[in-house]
Amino acid sequence: MKLWGGRFEKNTNIMVDDFNSSIRFDKRLYKQDITGSMAHVTMLGKQNIIKKNEADIIKKGLEELLADIENNKIAFDIKAEDIHMNIEKLLIERIGEVAKKLHTGRSRNDQVTLDMRMYVKEEIIEIKKMIIELMNTLLDIAKNNTSTIMPGYTHLQKAQPITFAHHVMAYFEMLKRDLDRLMDTYKRTDSLPLGAGALATTTYPLDREYVAELLDFDKICLNSIDAVSDRDYCIELTNTLAMLMMHLSRFSEEIILWCSNEFQFIELDDAYSTGSSIMPQKKNPDIAELVRGKTGRVYGSLIGLLTTMKSLPLAYNKDMQEDKEATFDAIDTVKMCLPIFTDMLKTIKINAKKMYQGAGGGFTNATDAADYLVKKDIPFRDAHAIIGKLVLYCVNNNKSLEDMTLDEYKNVSPIFENDIYEAISLETCVNKRNVIGGPSKDMMEKVIIINEEYLANI
Ligand code: ARG
Repeated sequence: MKLWGGRFEKNTNIMVDDFNSSIRFDKRLYKQDITGSMAHVTMLGKQNIIKKNEADIIKKGLEELLADIENNKIAFDIKAEDIHMNIEKLLIERIGEVAKKLHTGRSRNDQVTLDMRMYVKEEIIEIKKMIIELMNTLLDIAKNNTSTIMPGYTHLQKAQPITFAHHVMAYFEMLKRDLDRLMDTYKRTDSLPLGAGALATTTYPLDREYVAELLDFDKICLNSIDAVSDRDYCIELTNTLAMLMMHLSRFSEEIILWCSNEFQFIELDDAYSTGSSIMPQKKNPDIAELVRGKTGRVYGSLIGLLTTMKSLPLAYNKDMQEDKEATFDAIDTVKMCLPIFTDMLKTIKINAKKMYQGAGGGFTNATDAADYLVKKDIPFRDAHAIIGKLVLYCVNNNKSLEDMTLDEYKNVSPIFENDIYEAISLETCVNKRNVIGGPSKDMMEKVIIINEEYLANI
């Protein structure tokens, strides 16, 4: 007999049981469900909606059930549909009639979204810690590489010299925004839906503030219809995670490039690489590739959630049961990617020589050569044209700007003097860029301190 079986004359079709049931995936909410029920029943007792001693018996039963679930002693039943009814049914089997009072003044509609909000809040805190660990790793790499010169790119064409610290700290800024979005999502998730009932609250004198206090919710959902209809927090979280994955994916793409024989900027540790079943020489960056690949799944969850919600009339609809697999998968994927990505980074070998060589080719110092002329009072547009000519000369003669003799310089413009070599050295190019946000060693060191303080206060 189903918990809701009173008005039915037939059993549900066996396919319906299977199709309708969510216990396969919502069983992970057992702890939130039981904790929520304990708070609800405590409040029912306090408000004399049920007797105090009945509340105590139910609470004790729930506690014991929780312990048994945690010790793997419980098998859930697909016929009981979801985690909420499984637990209620198990409780009735264990402590008898009194358990039937647990669901007084409550609906699964407010119960399920309570469980999800509690779960999402906990997961946000876990993911926050993992992001911070990655940020600390980036800071460490940056600290050791403020003088590691590499080429910076636009259009994947060599542009200007930067440092590895500068490049890595770009990702740090992205992660700062991700953390910010994550904690902002937390604020809106932190609102208690319990008490909304099926959609219109209840006639019992519930004390919602008390329940919010017991369950550590910051505020209470102020419209019962919205409370049971809202899955914004799942979408917001998944959106935040999709954006985080997009950042990890861009980073992964660069790591994959940097490991290639063409770049050789970094080498991954053997423990974070894989081989080929046929080509003996191969050392593949599978971790970075998988992080890049899994980004697609998280986007899929986000689009899935948005699409599920887009045409639903208020209030609860069973479609909303689909929120779980999408949200859980996005959370699981991110929690799998973050630690392994962090550990992979912790163990990378940086090939500073190759980076420096890379920065040396491709005329990354051409802007600085133009700026040299500007400092000698040539208008920038003219300077740009002069250096353009020089670059063409170098390309045709297979030279770099620093290989040219002073005579060759003077052939193009008499303004060049011996100090041109100093002006276009890669070290000068980097360290003269001392503007806030720029690559110079001094500036990077300042920014690293600012970001250390940021992490210390988060
Ligand atoms: N398993 C359901 C879900 O995940 C719980 C809520 C069911 N409510 C209902 N009225 N059928 O959404």
